Amino acid sequence: MGKIYKVAVIGCGMFANAQYFPFIEKSGPAKLVACADIIPERAEAAAQKYNIPEWYSSVDELIQKGDFDIAIDATSIPAHYEVNMKLFAAGKNVISQKPAALTVELMTEEIEAAKKAGVLFTSVPIHAMRPDILRAKQMIDSGAIGDVLSVKCVSTHGGPEYFQYREADPSWFYEPGAGALYDMGVHALHQVTAIMGPAKRVSCLAAYSRKERTIRSGKFDGKVIKSDKIPDNYFISLDFGNDKIGFVDTGFCQVATRSVPLEIFGSMGVISFDSPGVTWPDPKVYVDSPERGFRGWIQNQERWIDPPMRIQSQCCCLTDMIIALETGNRPTLTPEHARHVIEIMCAIPESIETGKFVDLKTTF
Ligand SMILES: NC(=O)c1ccc[n+]([C@@H]2O[C@H](COP(=O)([O-])OP(=O)(O)OC[C@H]3O[C@@H](n4cnc5c(N)ncnc54)[C@H](O)[C@@H]3O)[C@@H](O)[C@H]2O)c1
Repeated sequence: MGKIYKVAVIGCGMFANAQYFPFIEKSGPAKLVACADIIPERAEAAAQKYNIPEWYSSVDELIQKGDFDIAIDATSIPAHYEVNMKLFAAGKNVISQKPAALTVELMTEEIEAAKKAGVLFTSVPIHAMRPDILRAKQMIDSGAIGDVLSVKCVSTHGGPEYFQYREADPSWFYEPGAGALYDMGVHALHQVTAIMGPAKRVSCLAAYSRKERTIRSGKFDGKVIKSDKIPDNYFISLDFGNDKIGFVDTGFCQVATRSVPLEIFGSMGVISFDSPGVTWPDPKVYVDSPERGFRGWIQNQERWIDPPMRIQSQCCCLTDMIIALETGNRPTLTPEHARHVIEIMCAIPESIETGKFVDLKTTF
């Protein structure tokens, strides 16, 4: 029998409960051996609910006393850098929630620390692994829509206090170092760059939709949050060079939308995505073929791309990590891709302030 990877989760909040704890042992040869949270009751509650043998009240205690191969950092955004660096120093493979750092420099430090420790480092979101995105790339490579000209992505909801039920206080989402761009924009930017590759420059128009918000469910129902420190409504333009452009609509201020989440426009067609669920259906395709005398939306055959892995949950990042550890191949969710998205997000405030495009340097 092959190796069973021992997995520890740091941060026992909404996301870890929804997408990691129930799926870890279904995502590959893996055993969930420990969890940790700076709010000890959360770690203890998760340990009881998911039968996790050990729980700790800090990443330091976990590192000191726990025995594990892979750590999933599901802490709140501002904690990621420090938690990840401690895990690298302890020689652990790390899957980080997004964004893994708040600046390109800090992300580079993490990438270097992982290399020095000889461990693997990956960062979600998981879009680069999604079967519908892989299918779209396959269609593009086959020439189905001609030259790719532009891509448009909408990644919005009404705010974590409106949209998601949570036992934890969501106020931190509205503090500098978190915010709609880092929580939602990161998804759109990963999708758009997964399709188009690295961008060359970015510009952005942003606004504050509301200066105060009221929590609408969960343990903190009714609490008023100040939401006046960072914008929560962003229209982002991206230039990929060679007359290829992208547009991202992201924020915490669309309480509902019927927008198509992602569309790719080519000289001879369009690829249009449905809202992602757990199945990620193949995207719809419009083909313009004057030489054959037809144009229109066409039917996909039954899924004819065989996804490299069956995605049941966002815990597929663990499958990606384990495959990379077993084969020695690069994981799909590379930290270099994540760093490019961080660079875009860090350039956005400058563009908002100056009203100008900001050049980008990193690539992946
Ligand atoms: N991919 C997605 O679709 C998606 C959706 C929601 C949240 N997220 C991400 O997941 C992460 C967690 O979000 P959430 O919604 O679960 O938030 P949450 O507030 O419910 O949970 C975060 C948990 O981390 C703990 N924590 C904070 N700092 C810590 C530290 N230094 N050490 C140990 N524990 C610490 C908190 O006490 C809390 O229990 C964030 O990065 C968020 O952006 C991703």
